[in-house]
Amino acid sequence: MSKSPNSKQSVHIRWLIRRDMQAVMEIESASFEFPWTEDEFINCLRQRDCIGMVAEYAEQVVGFMIYELQPTSIHVLSFAVHPDFRRKSVGSSLIQKLVAKLAYQRRNRIQLEVRETNLSAQLFLKQLGFRATGVLRSFYEDSTEDAFLMQYRGEAAWESQVPSEEVFRDRAG
Ligand SMILES: CC(C)(COP(=O)(O)OP(=O)(O)OC[C@H]1O[C@@H](n2cnc3c(N)ncnc32)[C@H](O)[C@@H]1OP(=O)(O)O)[C@@H](O)C(=O)NCCC(=O)NCCS
Repeated sequence: MSKSPNSKQSVHIRWLIRRDMQAVMEIESASFEFPWTEDEFINCLRQRDCIGMVAEYAEQVVGFMIYELQPTSIHVLSFAVHPDFRRKSVGSSLIQKLVAKLAYQRRNRIQLEVRETNLSAQLFLKQLGFRATGVLRSFYEDSTEDAFLMQYRGEAAWESQVPSEEVFRDRAG
């Protein structure tokens, strides 16, 4: 990985295909302490409503996102950007692609679980308008960590929701 995108416009988002898997696995193992195996990705992507996208720059895969279509929401299962390409709006471009898929009458929110120790992802999601809506105790099989459930909805839909700060304050207290 030698070149870096100068602007968000240079990043192209497309469907994940089988031959992207090597690059996806490299990004996955560079990004997570407990990475998914290739079989886990493939089994997940075989499910009917499970979809993969990649972010490509200069014909290199620099990020990916795996998500599941649910009746009223989009559930993000995994996403990451190659360490050499972070803070260049690649992650934002992937999330914006999902936001564009929301239909405000029906599938009207995006949700995902974030490890309590993954502060950079929490800050990234907060910046994009996600809010923490709950804490899932001992959510992970590979550690004793809790997860924050984070959701994105259209701005107006947040008015009746608990502010994210309260979720974090409850935990701290
Ligand atoms: C989280 C992740 C996908 C963000 O991707 P990215 O391409 O670097 O994000 P962007 O460049 O679009 O960031 C947009 C904004 O989010 C915020 N942000 C992103 N990363 C941040 C960090 N490490 N610390 C603080 N704020 C951050 C910033 O406000 C940033 O804007 P700025 O760069 O102008 O300040 C990337 O850090 C990553 O792959 N992390 C490891 C895997 C992971 O945690 N995945 C999420 C699992 S839930």
